[in-house]
Amino acid sequence: MDSNSTPDTLDPSNWESVRQIGHKMVDDIVDNMKSVRLRPAWQSVPDSVRSKLDEPVPFAGSSLEEVYQTFVENILPYPTGNAHPRFFGWVMGNGTITGAFADFLASAMNSHVAGYDQSATVIEDKVIDWMKELMGYPDDATGLLVSGGTMANINAVLVARNEMLEFDVRTQGIQGITEPLRIYGSQETHSWVLKACELMGLGRDAFRNVPINRDFQMDVDTCRGMIETDLQEGYRPFCIVGNVGTVNCGAIDDLSSIRKLANQFNLWFHVDGAFGSVAAWAPNSRKLVEEQESADSMAFDLHKWGYMPYEIACVLIRRPSAQNSTFGYAPSYLLSSDRGISVDTTRFADRGVQLSRGFRALKAWMSMKEQGVTRIGNAIDKNVLQAKRLERLVEQEECLELLAPVALNIVCFRYIADGLSLQELNAVNQEILLKIQESGFAVPSQTVIEGKFAVRVCITNHRSNDQDFDELAKMVAELGAYEVQSRGARNA
Ligand SMILES: Cc1ncc(COP(=O)(O)O)c(C=O)c1O
Repeated sequence: MDSNSTPDTLDPSNWESVRQIGHKMVDDIVDNMKSVRLRPAWQSVPDSVRSKLDEPVPFAGSSLEEVYQTFVENILPYPTGNAHPRFFGWVMGNGTITGAFADFLASAMNSHVAGYDQSATVIEDKVIDWMKELMGYPDDATGLLVSGGTMANINAVLVARNEMLEFDVRTQGIQGITEPLRIYGSQETHSWVLKACELMGLGRDAFRNVPINRDFQMDVDTCRGMIETDLQEGYRPFCIVGNVGTVNCGAIDDLSSIRKLANQFNLWFHVDGAFGSVAAWAPNSRKLVEEQESADSMAFDLHKWGYMPYEIACVLIRRPSAQNSTFGYAPSYLLSSDRGISVDTTRFADRGVQLSRGFRALKAWMSMKEQGVTRIGNAIDKNVLQAKRLERLVEQEECLELLAPVALNIVCFRYIADGLSLQELNAVNQEILLKIQESGFAVPSQTVIEGKFAVRVCITNHRSNDQDFDELAKMVAELGAYEVQSRGARNA
């Protein structure tokens, strides 16, 4: 069969009808986002829907109308829920309609952003410049937009490892390591660091869990002692991770002390600011995170507290050539030329793991230009105030107990009642949480703090209003009373 006899392209046979469906998609999505508050914050995917979606491989296609209708009926109604004003689970952002449009436009352009002479490269460069300026990084620092905080952090610690070791890690790999490596971070550090140690071939034991103080910050003196002991025992410390917003309760480590400690032992200082770092954009909260500027590298998400749709995060590396010397490759099929499309072919590919990369910079560029960084920063400040409001509500209510200080935007608390053991209280609070989620009213998540099951409210939500928190606190108190009462009745 020659190419002329192949049936057709994958383009539509009727562009006008596709245009109409496209318009309908935009209308539906605008309506959907506008009315998000009216729907449950979350609902489970019903069995009937699961079985409708359990289809065989679709060898024969169907019309776009039909496919879209299935999406509208069976997929759109059952999201994670993080677009909702009362979604406070884990650390999830809301997204915006501008971000969603930008993703559509980027996908339509379908740019391959390894580098090349093209507009997407100009835009990613610009967005990285903005990030450097907003985070107080120098002009000659490098950066990359990646899929999320995990990837951004891993990118940075790979650079740290290669920069801090004296031999050619890229050639010899971990086989060249004579003293086992050690990386330090508080025990509250997110699990990305364990993945990083595993991926680097160092093993999880390479991560040294440093105890925390009463404010859930790394105990820097203890970290110093651990480094000294490790050195005496023949280990090779190479990096300290400082947290700007720990995942459990939003603690911000004492960054200036960590910087000094890193200097004392000539270690790389990396900041994981997955959500907290963007507080630098917020006029009132900026001072809480300003010391992060001193780090050798930092990683932060834009899909969390930057309110942009998944997936987008940024890694910044202070040393100008470090990222390129960790990841750069120049095979003949990717060589750059002075002219033609192949100018700087691997500009971004040389700063990270991915070669084929999408145009995720567009949603950052469009969101920042349309909303303005000041407005995004004000939304961050509003969330910090809302966390303080919920903290006050918890403190005022006798049956509620705060389980960790509120440093930024996370409130961990629980229902308490006299005469219940720790285990019983944990079970009561777990039940409260599940009932709230299943009711569709709101989605907090959970964590365990000093053995106590916590209802965890993480506020990276530009759609929440103060009343949402008043009602949530009331609901926890009411459900707690109900739960304790019904347990009492069951045990009577
Ligand atoms: C402090 C912290 N670091 C890293 C991550 C991982 O980020 P991502 O989920 O974008 O990979 C998270 C996720 O919540 C986080 O809270």
